[in-house]
Amino acid sequence: MSNPGRLQGLVAIITGGGSGFGEAMAHAFAREGARIVVGDLNVEAGDRVCAALVAEGHEAIACRVDVSQSDDMRALVAAALARFGQIDIMVNNAGMSHANRPMLEVDEAFFDRLFAVNVKSLYLSAVHCVPVFRRQRRGCFINIGSTAAVRPRPGLTWYNGSKGAVTLITKSMAVELAPDNIRVNAINPALAETPLLSTFMGVADTAENRARFLASIPLGRLCQPSDVAQAAVFLADPASNFVTGVCLEVDGGRCI
Ligand SMILES: NC(=O)c1ccc[n+]([C@@H]2O[C@H](COP(=O)([O-])OP(=O)(O)OC[C@H]3O[C@@H](n4cnc5c(N)ncnc54)[C@H](O)[C@@H]3O)[C@@H](O)[C@H]2O)c1
Repeated sequence: MSNPGRLQGLVAIITGGGSGFGEAMAHAFAREGARIVVGDLNVEAGDRVCAALVAEGHEAIACRVDVSQSDDMRALVAAALARFGQIDIMVNNAGMSHANRPMLEVDEAFFDRLFAVNVKSLYLSAVHCVPVFRRQRRGCFINIGSTAAVRPRPGLTWYNGSKGAVTLITKSMAVELAPDNIRVNAINPALAETPLLSTFMGVADTAENRARFLASIPLGRLCQPSDVAQAAVFLADPASNFVTGVCLEVDGGRCI
């Protein structure tokens, strides 16, 4: 008989689950036995990932959500509870960036949207998930930050700041929610091969330009979605139940 998965019996919501890191986490969590709620603003992407999970024999639903909107986040949590009756893991992964550019070239409307998606989303996930986690007497948040919070690159100032907020909010939530047996951790990935790559680089994705970025990563390669997914499985696994307030760099040594 095969061993049960590390996340057997657990239910995970993954925002931005329709692409990149979120998609990889959805598959990795499902392989470990979790039931998955794929939340994404892009309905087609969320449905595609959900259909792939179901085709592999996993239990999953997709839900359209804009993580910056309270009504959407309420509906996401309600959909998870209606289908699966519990929520064990909330992955706040959906995020965006301005293109790499001088800081004064990012207009105010874009700044507001960036902070709503990358930072207000954490507030909204707390508002709608913490009462559920408190009722259950357990729960786990995983927030996707960035090495941008630790070693900011020029041209990404407002994005870097939004990820700095993810770090501090993660630690502050961890200490405040610990008495409720709610763990809160973050993952800080390095530059990765997802659709966001060219936004961060600010230059064409050529071999020469990649080489410049790779030179700043000691292990000499970009982050892969599977690197983040494996770190997220560790943080979601009840075996890591003494780990909270950690912002784990998954960065090939970039932040050393
Ligand atoms: N790609 C990188 O180099 C990198 C590095 C460090 C951190 N990150 C962070 O990782 C996270 C995921 O990024 P990715 O590279 O997988 O990006 P991605 O663009 O591949 O996927 C992001 C997903 O989030 C969804 N999304 C965007 N805005 C949303 C919203 N308001 N509500 C709901 N869904 C929304 C998109 O539709 C998309 O499916 C982000 O928080 C990003 O800041 C990325």
